[in-house]
Formats: sequence, structure tokens, C-alpha cells
Amino acid sequence: MSLREKIAREIESRGPMPFDRFMSLALYDPEGFFGGQRLRSEKAGDFLTSPEVSALFGETLARLVSAERERIGEPFQVVEVAAGSGTLLGPLLRVAPTPAMAVEVSPAAREALRASLPAIDVVDRLPQSMRGVVIANELIDNLPMAVAQKTGDGWRERWVGLEEDRFTFIDAPPRNEVTLWLEEYAGEVPDGGWVEVQLEAARWLEDVLSRLEAGSVVIFDYGDTATNLVPRRADGTLRTYRAHHLGPHPLDEPGATDITADVNFTALEAVAGLAGAVVTLHRQDDFLCGLGLRQRLSEIRQEELEAARAGDTDQGLRARSLRIEAETLLHPRGLGDFRVLVIVK
Ligand SMILES: C[S@@+](CC[C@H](N)C(=O)[O-])C[C@H]1O[C@@H](n2cnc3c(N)ncnc32)[C@H](O)[C@@H]1O
Repeated sequence: MSLREKIAREIESRGPMPFDRFMSLALYDPEGFFGGQRLRSEKAGDFLTSPEVSALFGETLARLVSAERERIGEPFQVVEVAAGSGTLLGPLLRVAPTPAMAVEVSPAAREALRASLPAIDVVDRLPQSMRGVVIANELIDNLPMAVAQKTGDGWRERWVGLEEDRFTFIDAPPRNEVTLWLEEYAGEVPDGGWVEVQLEAARWLEDVLSRLEAGSVVIFDYGDTATNLVPRRADGTLRTYRAHHLGPHPLDEPGATDITADVNFTALEAVAGLAGAVVTLHRQDDFLCGLGLRQRLSEIRQEELEAARAGDTDQGLRARSLRIEAETLLHPRGLGDFRVLVIVK
């Protein structure tokens, strides 16, 4: 039975499903986008993330890991959640050799991680307790979320139903937890506006912080504070990606596209605050420059110049491609505009 049939059968037998249930099946069922045998996060895959753009990303984070190790002492471990193909951990561990673990729910990603990083533990769930640095790049935007729309009569949820064999959004009263989240974190949304309700993200962070004895959690993703997200609310931010481009409507091809939305960092800051941690939110360009990437970029430019003067084409090309990678990580309207939430415990 295909994933589409599986979802349709569930709706036929139990009635419409909340969008978070649909997204969970579409992404994480064994036939789902991340559940299947294809590795999604790689240059030839469906999206290009910071660690896939450049090893400089992991190398730069090594500095943060070393500083945290200095601060909290041993035992110490780097735990990367949603480690994808290992392109963050590999360069990081080369610069700062550290006990490390990769947590991945995707079987294809776990296989890739075991092949590329044979010395580290690759698991499908968080360890019971952790001391060190937990890193998650582009995880939160993929955690299942509900969707709600503001109407003249207040908030309504959009669940998934079936009409003439097509999945379609249908009106449903908001569940209590959804209403509570919207009241806290939706911001001033105009009538007709759409909001992605990121309850699973809050649960994930609560869980991580309850397991982290000391250290920090560093979360990279697209999104913004609740207030800054308001201008994006007219149509909401739910979307799909396939082969590096925006894909079809999120209900149209479950399992065949990445489903994602901008992360509401205000809601995550609140979870961390309640756990008694110290929280700061940064832009990715500022954050990486604070860890020395701007300095590294100047050195690379200098190498490029010297190679050109010496007529060393190979070295010149190597430096040029590194420079372009660093500039891509820092691009103010691209990856540089991502947000970084740093939670210190
Ligand atoms: C957009 S990819 C990012 C991969 C990688 N971090 C990168 O930047 O290239 C999202 C990844 O999150 C993984 N994932 C989703 N939920 C997860 C969870 N609860 N625990 C661990 N990994 C998860 C998916 O399997 C997928 O590989």
C-alpha cells in the first residue's frame, strides 16, 4: 500500500486528521520523505544546508565546542541531532577531536553516518543524559506542526480531509493545546492569516533540556521571532521543497517532498527560559563571525591573492571555492539570515 493510500485509509476510517499527524506520516513513515532509503541532505538531494555547503561550518563550530569543553570540563560529548550525512560533525571533529554521537531518525542518514564517521555512535534517539554541546541544524523546521487560521470568529485549525480522492484542508475547532500556543506565540495575526503551531518543537526542546546536565544547545534554522514573523502570516510559511526548489502544495505528494515552515524562535526561547537556561538569539552571519569565520575569510582571500600572484592555478582555485563557500554561509539574505538559538545550562 502506498503512503497516499495509507493516509487516505486512515482518514476514511477515523475521519480527518490534524496536519501534524499528516506531516508526521508524510516525512517519517517508512514510505515518508525521510523514512525511506534515500538520503535527502546532500548536494544531489533535495535541499542544501550550511554543512552541505561547506566544511567551514563544522570547522567554525569547533571553536564553540572547545570553549564549552573548557567551561564545563569532563565528561563531555558533542551530540548532533538530525546529523544528516555527517557533513557538520566530520569537519568539527577533525578540528576539535571530542567524544561524539549522531542522532538521526532517518535510516538512510544513519547508514551514511556510519559509513562516513565509523568512530562515533550513531543512534535513533537521544541518550538518557548528556553533558556537552547539542547541535541541531535544520531539524526544528521539519518537526510535525499543526496549522491554524485566524478567522473573524477567532482561531480555527486546518485538518486534512479527503475530497474526491484529493487531500484537502478542512475546518476544525482548535485543540486546547493549539489555542494555548497560538495565544502565547502567534503574535498579531490579521484575519485570514495562517500560523504553523510548533508544539512538537517545544516538546523536543523540553526533552533535550531535561536530559542535558550541563552544557549548551545550539539550534540553527530559518525563521524568526513571533513579532518578526507577523508579516509572513497572510499566507503562512508552510511549504515544500524538492530537488532544491519550492515544491507542490504540502498536501499533494506526501512522502515525495520535504514539508517545512519558518521556525518560531520566541516559542523555543520560552521553553528554554522555563527550564532556567540562559538564552540568546543571533543571526547566523553574526554568530559565525563571532566564532572567527570573518577572520578565516580574510585569510582565504589573502591565499587566493597570493596564489594568483604566484601563478599557482590549483591553489588559486581551491582558495576561490573556499571563499565562495564562506561567503555563502554568511550571505545576509541567504544562510546568513538564518537564526541561531544558543541555550546555555
Ligand atoms: C533538513 S534535514 C537536515 C540534516 C542536516 N542537519 C543538515 O543540515 O544537512 C532534517 C533531518 O532531521 C532528521 N530528523 C527529523 N526529526 C528528527 C528527530 N526527532 N531526531 C533526529 N533526527 C531527526 C531527518 O531525518 C533529517 O535527516
